[in-house]
Amino acid sequence: MNNLVKVTRPNQNDNDSNKDKNKNSDIAVITIDNPPVNALSPGVPEAISAAIDEINADPAVKAAVVIGAGRTFVAGADIKEFVKMTAAGARRATLLPLLLRIEDSAKPVVMAIHGSAFGGGLELAMSGHYRVASPTAQVGQPEVKLGIIPGAGGTQRLPRLVGLAKAVEMCAEGKPVSAREAAALGLIDQLIEGDLLAGAISFAHDVAGKPAPKTRERTAKLGTPTENAAIFAAARSVAAKKQRGLKAPLAAINAIEAGTSLSFDEGCQAEAKFFTECLFSDQSKALIHVFFGEREVAKIPDVPKETPTLPVNRVAVVGSGTMGGGIAMVFANAGIPVLLKDVDEAALAAGMGKIRKNYATSVERGRFTQAFVDERLQMITPVPSYDAFSSVDMVVEAVFEGMALKKEVFAELDRVCRPGAILASNTSTLNIDEIAAATSRPESVIGTHFFSPANVMRLLEIVRGKKTSNEVIATCMQLSKKLGKIGVLVGNCRGFVGNRMFGPYRREAQFLIEEGADIEAVDQSLVEFGNAMGPLATGDLAGLDVGWRIRKEYRHLEKPGIRQPFAEDRLCELGRYGQKTSKGWYRYDENRRPIADPEVIALIRKWSAEAGVPQRQISSDEIVDRCTYALVNEGARILEEGYALRAVDIDIIYLNGYGFPAYRGGPMWYADTVGLPKVYQRVCEFQQQHGELWAPAPLLKRLAEAGKTFAEFDKEQLAAA
Ligand code: 3HC
Ligand code: NAI
Repeated sequence: MNNLVKVTRPNQNDNDSNKDKNKNSDIAVITIDNPPVNALSPGVPEAISAAIDEINADPAVKAAVVIGAGRTFVAGADIKEFVKMTAAGARRATLLPLLLRIEDSAKPVVMAIHGSAFGGGLELAMSGHYRVASPTAQVGQPEVKLGIIPGAGGTQRLPRLVGLAKAVEMCAEGKPVSAREAAALGLIDQLIEGDLLAGAISFAHDVAGKPAPKTRERTAKLGTPTENAAIFAAARSVAAKKQRGLKAPLAAINAIEAGTSLSFDEGCQAEAKFFTECLFSDQSKALIHVFFGEREVAKIPDVPKETPTLPVNRVAVVGSGTMGGGIAMVFANAGIPVLLKDVDEAALAAGMGKIRKNYATSVERGRFTQAFVDERLQMITPVPSYDAFSSVDMVVEAVFEGMALKKEVFAELDRVCRPGAILASNTSTLNIDEIAAATSRPESVIGTHFFSPANVMRLLEIVRGKKTSNEVIATCMQLSKKLGKIGVLVGNCRGFVGNRMFGPYRREAQFLIEEGADIEAVDQSLVEFGNAMGPLATGDLAGLDVGWRIRKEYRHLEKPGIRQPFAEDRLCELGRYGQKTSKGWYRYDENRRPIADPEVIALIRKWSAEAGVPQRQISSDEIVDRCTYALVNEGARILEEGYALRAVDIDIIYLNGYGFPAYRGGPMWYADTVGLPKVYQRVCEFQQQHGELWAPAPLLKRLAEAGKTFAEFDKEQLAAA
C-alpha cells in the first residue's frame, strides 16, 4: 500500500472514556487520499486492492467502509492519464479487476459518498455491496462530456441498480443526479445527515456478517427486450437532437444495449471496446482539451491565486434593456441583491416587465420553481436615480453603445460610488481605457462583457484596462464562477477577443454569398460542421442593424481599396434587420421559423453583378475553411498581440459564447488537429484569391513552418512565464 490509501480501525465511540482508545473496532475504514479530487491515478487502484486484501485477511474485521479524504469521494479516473495514453498510443490499465475484487470481498464493503462520485468514482461505488451518502453528494457518469463512455463496468452495473431507462439517460447525457434522487432510484441505500463516516460505520455494523449483495448479480431491473428496444430507440433520437454530432452518447447506448443480451463479463468486454474507440477519437481529445481549458482560463500568470479579492455583496446595473435586465437576473440568481437603474420610470417598467416575462418562461419550462423566481424578483430593486449607489460594491453599466454616453455614466458613477467599488462596463466594442479615463479611479474600472441572453450564455469576457488593478481582476474572475459563468480575461482591443474574431468570420460568410453561394448552403455547411447556428441566421437573431450601426461609426478606420462585404448593409438599408423585422437574410413566419427568401438572393445576385463579383459554384468544404480559418487567422493575431493569454482561452471563448462545437475543441484546437501547415497553406491560397484581408498571421506562419501547434505554443508560453 502507499500513502494514497490508508486503512484505519477507528474506535466505535471515541467519546466513551471507559473504552480503551487503542482498541480497534471490527469495521475497517479505507480512506482514499489523492488530493484535490481523489482521482484514481496510478497507485490508487492498486492501494485499494491491497486494502481489500488486508481486511479480508484480518479475522478481526467484519466489514469495511470506503471513504474519500478532503472535499469529495472520487471524481473518477485520472483524466491526465488519458492524455498521456492517447499521446503515446498506449492502452490503459483497466479498473475492472479491482472492482470485481471488491465485489467478491467476503466482507461487506460500504461506500461512503460525499462531494461527488463521478465516472470511475461511481463505478467504484457500485462495486461495493452498499452505498451511503451525504444528502448534498452528487453521483453520475459524466464521461460523455469528455467524449468517452464509462470504462469500468458503469454501463453494466448502473442499469442493474437504477433500471435501464435511467442508466441510459445518465450514461448518454452525462448529467449528475443528487444523492436524494439516487436514493430514490436505489443507487444509494441510505442518506446520512451529519457525520458521514460515523453513519457509514454504523451502517457497516448493521450489515456485517450478513450476505452481501453483488451488483453484477442483480437482474430485477434489467427489463424485457420489448421495453428495452423502445428505451434505446428514444435515447438515440434524443442524442441525435440534443448532442448532435457527438459519438460518445451513441457509444454509451450501444454498450448498455450490448449488455442486455450478454453475460456481465461479456458486457464489460463490449463496453471496453466502445470505450477504447471513443478514447482514441479526435472528439475525446478535443473534449478533454476543453475540460482542462475551462480550468486553465482561471489561471492568470501575473495575477497570482493569492491576490486579495474585494467583497461583492450588493451590486447595481445601469440600463435595464436586453443586456442590463439579463445581467440583473444573473446576479439575483446567484443570490446577490441588485439595484437596477434606467433613465425613467417608463424604461424601468419596460425592463422589469421583460425580466418578469423571462422568469415566467423559465417557470413554464420547469427550469425554476415559482417560489425561486419570487425570491429572485425580490432581489432586484428598480431605481430611477443614483441615490442608493453609495451602498453597492460593484456597478455593471449596460446603457446604449456610444462612447459619449458611457463616459457620462462613468463620470456620474465616479461621483456617487464609494471608493473601491468596482465600475464595470458591458460594452461590446468600446475602449475600456477611454471609459476609465472619465473617472478618477481607472484602477477600479474593468469590462465585464456578458453574452446575449446574459442569463443563459456561460461566457463572460473580462476586459482588462491598462490601469485595472489585480484585485479588481481577481474579484471579477472569482465572481464569474459564483455567477455560474466562465470568466476569460482578455485585453482591450476593438471587439476584444470574441467579437474581433467574429468580424472576419461573418465577413467571409457574406463574401461567399456575394461570390455565388446560397444563404442556406453557408448556414447549413457550418451547422453540419457542428456550430449551433449558421452565421447568417445568427446575424438575423442578433439584429443586422447592430453591426451596420457599428460599421458606419468605424468606416473611417477601414483601409481604402480593401474589399468589404456589401450585402448586409444593403439589406439593412431596405429595413431588413433580421428577426425583429421578420425579414433579414431569411423571411420569418409567426413562429420565427426561417424561410428562404428568393427576393434576397435575387437582390444579392444583382448587386454582385453590379459590383463585378465573378459568380461560381462553392463547395461546402470551402465554406467551412473560409469561415473557420478566418477565425483561426484572427485568433493567431490576437494571441501574438497578447490580447488573449493562451490559445485555449480563445477556444473557451468560442465554445461558450459563439456555439462553436465543443467536440472540435475550439477554433485553435481544431486548427491544430487539421495541422497548422495545412491551415497556413490554405490561408495563403485565400490571400492569393482574395487579397490582403487574408494575409497570414505571423504567428500562424511561424508555427506552421516550425511544425508546431497552438497547444505547444501555450506550453512554451507557460514554461517561459
Ligand atoms: N482527473 C484529473 N484531474 C481532475 C479530475 C480528474 N477526474 N477531476 C478534477 N481534476 C482536477 C482539475 O483539473 C483541477 O485541477 P487544477 O486545480 O490544476 O486546475 C482540480 O482537479 C480541481 O477540479 P475543479 O476545479 O473542477 O474542482 P471543483 O470542485 O469545481 O469540481 C469536480 C470538482 C466536480 C469533481 C470536477 O472537477 C469534475 O467534474 N471533474 C471531472 C469528473 C469526471 O469527468 N469524471 C470522469 C472521469 S473519466 C472516468 O472516470 C472514466 C472511467 O469510466 C473509467
Ligand atoms: P438596449 O438598447 O436593449 O438597452 C439599453 C438600456 O439603457 C435602455 O433600457 C436605455 O433606456 C438605457 N439607458 C440609456 N441611457 C441611459 C442612462 N444614461 N442611464 C441609465 N440607463 C440608460 O441595449 P443592450 O442591447 O442591452 O446593450 C447594452 C450594452 O450591452 C451596450 O453597450 C451593448 O454594446 C452591450 N452588449 C449588447 C449585446 C447584445 O446582444 N444586445 C451583447 C453584449 C454586449
